[in-house]
Order: sequence, then C-alpha cells, then structure tokens
Amino acid sequence: MNAFEELFSSLEGGRVLDVATGEGGYVNILKRYLKSYAIVLGIDSDDKVLAAARNNHENPNIEFVQMDAEQLGFRSEEFDIVNISASLHHLENVTRVLGEMVRALKPGGRFILTEMHRDGMTTAQFNAIRIHHWAAAVDSSLGGLHDRTFARDELLNYIDDLNLSNVIVRDFSHTNSNPMDEKAIKSVEGYLDQYMLRAQQAPGSDSLLQQGEDLRHALHEEGLHREPVLLLVAEKP
Ligand SMILES: C[S@@+](CC[C@H](N)C(=O)[O-])C[C@H]1O[C@@H](n2cnc3c(N)ncnc32)[C@H](O)[C@@H]1O
Repeated sequence: MNAFEELFSSLEGGRVLDVATGEGGYVNILKRYLKSYAIVLGIDSDDKVLAAARNNHENPNIEFVQMDAEQLGFRSEEFDIVNISASLHHLENVTRVLGEMVRALKPGGRFILTEMHRDGMTTAQFNAIRIHHWAAAVDSSLGGLHDRTFARDELLNYIDDLNLSNVIVRDFSHTNSNPMDEKAIKSVEGYLDQYMLRAQQAPGSDSLLQQGEDLRHALHEEGLHREPVLLLVAEKP
C-alpha cells in the first residue's frame, strides 16, 4: 500500500478544493485515491495552465476556475478537503494562501499538503534539487515567481502555525530506482534543455547557461533521483 492509499482511501471527499492546481496533475491522484468525491474544484491564477487542465479532465464533476489563492472567492467552511501540491515554493505569500485554505475548510475537514524539500538527500537527489533551484533562478530572472525548495522543518513550521489537529506526515525519498536510468536522465535533460532556451533570454544569461551545462555534466556523471517529498494530512478542529 502506498502512502496516498494509506492516507486518502478512508476520506469521503465531498467538495474538494485543489489550490494552485496548474494543469491539474494532482487531481489524478485525488480521483484515484480518495474514497469518494462529489466535486473537485481546481483553482489557479494562470488562465493558460487552466486551459490545459480543462483538456486533461473532461468530467462534469471536475471544474477549473481562475482565482488568486491569496483571496479565495469562497465563503468560509465550504470545502471538505483542501489540497495544495508542489506549489508552496511558487507562492508569493505562503502564509496568506494557507490561511485562506483553512478558512475555506469545514471543521472536521482535511487539509492536504504535498511538497518537495531539500533535506536528507543522496547525491542523485541533490542533482534534482540543484536543477530545480537553477530553473527557479532562470524563472526569477525573467520575472516569474519560482522560489528555492523549502527545508522540511520550514514546511512543518508553516503547518504548526495553522493549529490543525491529527497531523499525519509521510516522507517519500524516491531512492529505490537506478539513478543512472537512461530514460529518466533523458527526460530531465529535456526539462534542462527547455530552461537553457529560457536562460538565453534572461539577464545574466552567460552565468545561467554555464550553470546549466555544469548541471548537465553532473546529471550524466552522478545520475538522478527525484527530490524528497513530504505528504501531510491534517484535520481542522
Ligand atoms: C508547480 S505548479 C502546480 C502543480 C500542480 N499543483 C500539480 O501538483 O501538478 C504551481 C502553480 O502555482 C500557481 N500559482 C502561483 N501563485 C498563485 C496564486 N497566488 N494563486 C493561484 N495560483 C498560483 C502557478 O500559476 C502554477 O500553476
């Protein structure tokens, strides 16, 4: 049994809110592992990614709406589950977004967080984090909002401040696969290549392009494992 199955399979979803849903990737996990759901509503500030999300989920019980997570356009206590995945390090004001999520959650409802972090890594995981941080630096120098990943304790401190109860935490470390797997390396190299193209447009492009090439070298020499990920489920008292 994986951790999603363990933590989600007893949850009756009801009304589910997926904050900063992007292209709706995590909606697949919610659909697959929650015991049930009435509606999944994905919100994101970027209309372009929502168009892709709508294409990815043609289902009358799954909707996507453009909205700023810092000011959710919902009454308090409207949702049975609020979820945020892989997005904390893309937010300008993490505290405000988390506060809004808790406001929108019913008492007894579940708050779910899935977020990568930078602690306890193998060399191969360190390569994944370094590539992620470099991509964040490219995005930031082009004016986008993409921060470095958090330390695991920083994530837990944010959650402590929300005064939730029954907090359950699971860690994924993704270190069982072969770090030199050619297919995985090729796929990450594709991501790196996309960012090399972006880096050409960025201020300070020489240094960013050199860092990108150094990362490519490390990727081929040392391989890659995905970043450590923390999964957390908690209840609103
Ligand atoms: C890495 S992507 C989302 C990944 C997605 N949750 C998943 O697990 O597949 C991060 C998203 O955060 C969104 N975002 C950043 N700030 C936001 C805000 N204030 N309100 C809503 N969405 C925001 C971005 O537009 C982007 O689509």
